[in-house]
Amino acid sequence: MSSLTSPVTGQAHMWRGIIEEYRDRMPVSETTPIVTLREGGTPLIHSEYLSELTGCEVHLKFDGSNPTGSFKDRGMTMAISKAKEAGAEAVICASTGNTSAAAAAYAAKAGMTAGVIVPKGKIALGKLAQALVHGAKVIQIDGNFDQALTICRELADTEPVELVNSVNPYRIDGQRSGAWEVVDQLGRAPDVHVMPVGNAGNITAYWRGYREYHADKIIDQLPVMRGYQAAGAAPIVLGAKVDKPETIATAIRIGNPASWQWAVEAAEESGGSIRAVTDPQIMAAFRLVARHGVFAEMASSASIAGLLELKERGDLEPGQTVVCVLTGHGLKDPEWAISDSDEPVTIPPEAEAAAIELGLR
Ligand code: F0G
Repeated sequence: MSSLTSPVTGQAHMWRGIIEEYRDRMPVSETTPIVTLREGGTPLIHSEYLSELTGCEVHLKFDGSNPTGSFKDRGMTMAISKAKEAGAEAVICASTGNTSAAAAAYAAKAGMTAGVIVPKGKIALGKLAQALVHGAKVIQIDGNFDQALTICRELADTEPVELVNSVNPYRIDGQRSGAWEVVDQLGRAPDVHVMPVGNAGNITAYWRGYREYHADKIIDQLPVMRGYQAAGAAPIVLGAKVDKPETIATAIRIGNPASWQWAVEAAEESGGSIRAVTDPQIMAAFRLVARHGVFAEMASSASIAGLLELKERGDLEPGQTVVCVLTGHGLKDPEWAISDSDEPVTIPPEAEAAAIELGLR
């Protein structure tokens, strides 16, 4: 467990990043160079609105407040640290945007080069900007994420480059920290854990994290895992690969998830499910959480759409503690937010005009 106070002063201390905070649970040694941007330690936000709406106690694990704006930092600190330990000079990944942003940032911190392969025209502008600004070599393909990942796997087999997609086990190791934080923050395991599913690494990681805390008797119950894919990119729900995945939630626009089997296992072992929500449901959920103070990205909103779907189906019991993971920050892709809003009015630079416009007079 993380220590919340400094052993020296007894005061609250600066969050050290997930490897140091959970060092005894991480596959690192004294000599592993820890490459960190102090990721993790993200807020668990109680949602009064969603609690009232569902009759449950709903908490939002806002992983959009990680250093690069998504949960990917949890896995990337581990993957890049281990790559550095192994002497790698270059890393590579396929991405719908967030993995490439995190890989670029952590590789830059480590003094390594990063190559990222992304589906052309299908990643949010903010994510592309991140990869570029951190100096990654960005390559676009006329193809989708699944094809990009196939290329990266091949390159990692044949070239001197480390693959940092979640097929790299260190990524999953790092991402387990999300589950431990939820428990450390709540003081218990949630009854229900809701999250988006794309390549399925994160649900795999959360389930492992919860199970490890359970095995160590830190928690005495396990949550029911509820994963949500986008309806146009829902291979696990359909039980078959989707060759041309389509959804507005580009982060989870994936037709052949690498961790497919583990996601199914998480759902089955926990008595949960992997289901789909439609783009209109995702969009409505995106607006709803934003109107209640949290700007999460479109794919993240699948967990809120999922929560509402669970309520609708009668799958929630009154008073249950529910955690919804919001995996990325809405600022990654402001176009969605703007496209849905009226253009701000322009007034003369006078207080009176502002007062009138604001309806204060
Ligand atoms: N939410 C966001 C914001 C994501 O970026 C992703 C995945 C997911 C959810 C799904 O997580 O893949 O572990 O099931 N993004 C990857 C990427 C694929 O390339 O950034 P998952």
